[in-house]
Amino acid sequence: MSPIRRENATKNGEKPGCKTDDLYLIHGYLRRTLTRIPELIDAADPKDKARVELIARHIEEVAHQLIHHHLHEDAVMWERLIQRAPEATEDVLRMKEHHQHIHKKAEDVIDAVSEWKMNPSFKESLMHKVQDIREEALAHLDDEEKTIKPLAAKHLTQSEWNHMAEMAMEEEKDSPRGLFIIGYLYHCAPTEEVRQEFWKALPLPAKILYHLTTKKKFEKEWKQLYS
Ligand SMILES: [Fe+2]
Repeated sequence: MSPIRRENATKNGEKPGCKTDDLYLIHGYLRRTLTRIPELIDAADPKDKARVELIARHIEEVAHQLIHHHLHEDAVMWERLIQRAPEATEDVLRMKEHHQHIHKKAEDVIDAVSEWKMNPSFKESLMHKVQDIREEALAHLDDEEKTIKPLAAKHLTQSEWNHMAEMAMEEEKDSPRGLFIIGYLYHCAPTEEVRQEFWKALPLPAKILYHLTTKKKFEKEWKQLYS
């Protein structure tokens, strides 16, 4: 790639090159929850309406988070990476294709959750869809960390990379479940370093509000789901 092309590709003279380890945060949450959701469905007593509702909301939330995380990546990464690292086009197009498949499967899971809530005895369809997306999404996360994360670290600026987290925060800031997502991300962080980086980057009002209003509720919810 020519230096001129690279210069044109970034704004405000900010040089490409960024820290990308916060990808492990959202991936940690998706890995942890997607891996264990099938056992929740399997063990749910169809007569326990409150538990079915709790698990259903959790699955819908994970599916929505997965969709939104991918939409942020679609908006920020693919076009820029193809432009700045054309030699990696094949990898980028593979990721785009994964995202399209997984998006459709996540919507199918959300539909299947609605049906399950109406008929909790019939869990097979939801189980099948959840196992299916789990397999594809987990393989995708591994692939993306291996091929795209180093590419983005080299070719995107920090502002461009950070824009994904900014979009996520903007979407969550007025959502009634936004502060719970902080709890899930913090709890599921794969390493202490990733967890502390996440906490350090959170705006102070969000930290205070989380502690005052949500931390205890999140911990209770996690225990109810997974203990
Ligand atoms: Fe992805």
